[in-house]
Amino acid sequence: MSDSIESIQIDGREARKGRGAFFTPVPIADFLAQWAIAGRAGARVLDPTCGDGVFLRAAGQKLSRLSSVEGGLDQQVYGVDVHPPSLEDAMGALEADGLDARLITGDFFEIEPPGALLANLPMFDAVIGNPPFVRYQHHTGAARKASAQAALRQGVRLSGLASSWAALLVHAGSFLAPDGRLAMVLPAELLTVGYAEPVRQWLRQRFAAVKLVIFERLQFDDAIENVVLLLAHGTGGCDAFSIYQVDNAEDLDRIRAFDEFAVTLSTDGKWTDFLLTVGQRQLFKSVVGQHSTPLVTYGAPELGTVTGANHYFALNEATRRTYDLHEGRDVVRISPPGTKHFRGVSFSKADWERLRDAGEQVWLLSPDKDSRVTAGLRRYLARGETLGVPDAYKCQVRPIWYRPPVVSAPDLFFTYMSHRYPRLINNQAKTTFLNSMHGVRLVNNAPQMARDALPLLALNSVTMLGAELHGRSYGGGVLKMEPREAASLPMPNAGALEAAWRTLKSERTALNRQLQSGSWVDAVARVDEVLLRNTLNLSSGDAALIREAARSLRSRRMSRGSSADAGD
Ligand SMILES: C[S@@+](CC[C@H](N)C(=O)[O-])C[C@H]1O[C@@H](n2cnc3c(N)ncnc32)[C@H](O)[C@@H]1O
Repeated sequence: MSDSIESIQIDGREARKGRGAFFTPVPIADFLAQWAIAGRAGARVLDPTCGDGVFLRAAGQKLSRLSSVEGGLDQQVYGVDVHPPSLEDAMGALEADGLDARLITGDFFEIEPPGALLANLPMFDAVIGNPPFVRYQHHTGAARKASAQAALRQGVRLSGLASSWAALLVHAGSFLAPDGRLAMVLPAELLTVGYAEPVRQWLRQRFAAVKLVIFERLQFDDAIENVVLLLAHGTGGCDAFSIYQVDNAEDLDRIRAFDEFAVTLSTDGKWTDFLLTVGQRQLFKSVVGQHSTPLVTYGAPELGTVTGANHYFALNEATRRTYDLHEGRDVVRISPPGTKHFRGVSFSKADWERLRDAGEQVWLLSPDKDSRVTAGLRRYLARGETLGVPDAYKCQVRPIWYRPPVVSAPDLFFTYMSHRYPRLINNQAKTTFLNSMHGVRLVNNAPQMARDALPLLALNSVTMLGAELHGRSYGGGVLKMEPREAASLPMPNAGALEAAWRTLKSERTALNRQLQSGSWVDAVARVDEVLLRNTLNLSSGDAALIREAARSLRSRRMSRGSSADAGD
């Protein structure tokens, strides 16, 4: 767009980034304005962060086509922006089109909604636009406070991790008449991230109908995020949303009512599965229904030991020796904090010894309550006191500050913070663990080979897709699974596990070597071939569909981080 180019000249890329200014392509603004105005010649329209006015122009054009009355658009179309040069551009562009609007320079969060004591704007029939997208790290200070308070006035409590668009959307909603229409461009993370949960709840409760348009391809050249279009109207809450999937902005014109599909909202709040195509969703559901079982049927994921001060409670070999601390009496073996040492499908005694010799924190302070306190232990405890460890919250609240409640060694570890996908690791070393991973203790009637088979067979595209759907996307594109979410992870059921293991057992060493050398894509391809194709008898097309669904959700999530790539 020529006006965007002008804006770039008067307003550097960094400055625009700071204001969250990414400019909307005309076909998207036209589509949203058209839907929000809905043929109402007298509709009053607000764009709360109008920038150079692409939505105002779209609205003005539609309204002037609907009404034969000349003029009056400055009483109908309102635009707000903090950036005066953008508003000058907006006015210039409107005038060039023979249109008009009322433009307000200022911070939208300082404008009170209709009905408030100091309100001076009317109710609107349509609220449209593209809110600024500034991540929480840069959305700080007074601006964050004002935005959080505005959202709270609508009953939406946002966490400190919320990006700027979340509060803006909610505040904008408070300018909408009960039967008004809200049509906005939003980052696709609306559907998936934890911090947007209160916004999703609000959408569900505030509107009678919510439609989402999801793009297959990135729509904004300069934006860092994929976008979705939100179209919401009516009052009173809804149980299902309508989803439209389109390839790109040009497809918007071709959307017809029958293109939509309804999605019943999950109660756990995440809407990640909206990002799948209808075919992918149906196939995934059917495969999971027939061939999968939740991880919890093999064993419930549980939390590791919370020490309150890992730097003190987790010791390396040199420290253990210095203080003459003994295994069983003063310390127990642990898998060191973090999970980067888990490179393959198992954690063996030899792995533990290698880490010990490399100076990793492989011991956990856990003085036996029936043994005497030796001179060495006394010195180590005195060191803890000097460091202020007893004052750490978790140490204060347990009966004896230096005796953390150690959980016994689990059969498997579960990596719950993942870049690519969560993994199960066979705990052959039989060590206990800290809360940087989860543990899984197999149930008594679990198949004998589960301990060996699950870590390898979890590396299939159905389980990986399940992880994207059940997990939470965190800052930096990390996928996090709390024990409850990990418990629901779809794993091959016992029949499928045993059948696939018959083939894969003899390939375990080779596949493990592939994983350790970073060739995880090849390892997953082989597991998919054996499990999905040869065991579950999925066609190659269906197996590819699931694999592509897992890949695309993973890559959407990881694109939120800066450096990582989603592989394949
Ligand atoms: C994503 S751009 C959208 C611009 C234009 N509506 C479009 O779609 O091309 C966001 C705009 O919000 C403005 N902005 C950021 N914070 C604001 C605030 N608190 N109040 C009003 N405008 C704000 C920026 O100056 C920027 O023009």
